[in-house]
Amino acid sequence: PPNFQMMEGNSSIGKMNCRAKGAAPGFKVAILGAAGGIGQPLSMLMKMNPLVSVLHLYDVVNTLGVTADISHMDTGAVVRGFVGKDKLDEALTGMDLVIIPAGVPRKPGMTRDDLFKINAGIVKTICEGIARSCPRAIVNLISNPVNSTVPIAAEVFKKAGIYDPKRLLGVTMLDVVRANTFVAEVLGLDPREVDVPVVGGHAGVTILPLLSQVKPPCSFTPEEINYLTDRIQNGGTEVVEAKAGAGSATLSMAYAAVKFADACLRGLRGDAGVIECSFVTELPFFATKVRLGRSGAEEIFPLGPLNEYERAGLEKAKKELAVSIDKGVSFTRN
Ligand code: NAD
Ligand code: LMR
Repeated sequence: PPNFQMMEGNSSIGKMNCRAKGAAPGFKVAILGAAGGIGQPLSMLMKMNPLVSVLHLYDVVNTLGVTADISHMDTGAVVRGFVGKDKLDEALTGMDLVIIPAGVPRKPGMTRDDLFKINAGIVKTICEGIARSCPRAIVNLISNPVNSTVPIAAEVFKKAGIYDPKRLLGVTMLDVVRANTFVAEVLGLDPREVDVPVVGGHAGVTILPLLSQVKPPCSFTPEEINYLTDRIQNGGTEVVEAKAGAGSATLSMAYAAVKFADACLRGLRGDAGVIECSFVTELPFFATKVRLGRSGAEEIFPLGPLNEYERAGLEKAKKELAVSIDKGVSFTRN
């Protein structure tokens, strides 16, 4: 693990000799799809993260401009750019954490599942690279449809003999970020004080906010529950429609991805009590609260007590999830 001790001070060294002795301590992080709508702000925010010592930016196009730009920021991480498929393995070698926002986004009228045809192949190729070049890395998978791309990744890793369910994490943090924001609006609170668990998956009815478990404890009218559930489940579509053909959520997603990646890095560092929601692969595939530690999602928490509304939502979510999971698994097996 990286050494987080402060680097040796050089106050006793004469002014002319004040050269650093190597890269700052921290983790090595790769972003795949770094030149995209999510990739660019995500790369910028990860360059600002003090837990990152080396940042590898990879894309099939335009990476070098983004890398040159971001490398001028006077923060600790050393940035390197990699462009084109023959650079994938080099970009991945030695990485502790790999964040994947590679793939096409939705346009109005499309479902996330409509992206499967293109993104399934992209995720498969990338995961084969991870299996070859950094099989012990924690993987944060953002590319849609998450409900199917995470099963694809799991199958690729199983085939390569490197599958570790603790290390493969689908990113559903944007659902939590949205839920915190919308619930805070209804309650008249600061969103930073609100914590809403969101479980299930990352598409339509599979996104299941557990409003009975909101912190701080509070109660909602049936109208508020319907409004909040619908808005949280359709938050992605709200942005897709507002962008009117220019893509889907990128800035709020970059924020959410960094929030989740930072939690993963704090877990890797050994911090206690790092708990976030994530789409994990053991239930068999389901988003729930997990405790992040040195080896990834070390503990998966049960859903806790659900009310009748949530139990009905869970049944709907499970049905749709099963279809998306099957689709991902069959894609890789066939
Ligand atoms: P974008 O088109 O702006 O960027 C995608 C980037 O991926 C492009 O730069 C493209 O060159 C790159 N790319 C394509 N094929 C690649 C490959 N084989 N290897 C590496 N990079 C490759 O799209 P975006 O808005 O950044 O969205 C990216 C993905 O994230 C979409 O699938 C979108 O649906 C998804 N998304 C997920 C969430 C979530 O909550 N999990 C939220 C928002 C968006
Ligand atoms: C989101 O929730 O914003 C993403 O999954 C992108 C989308 O297509 O809605």
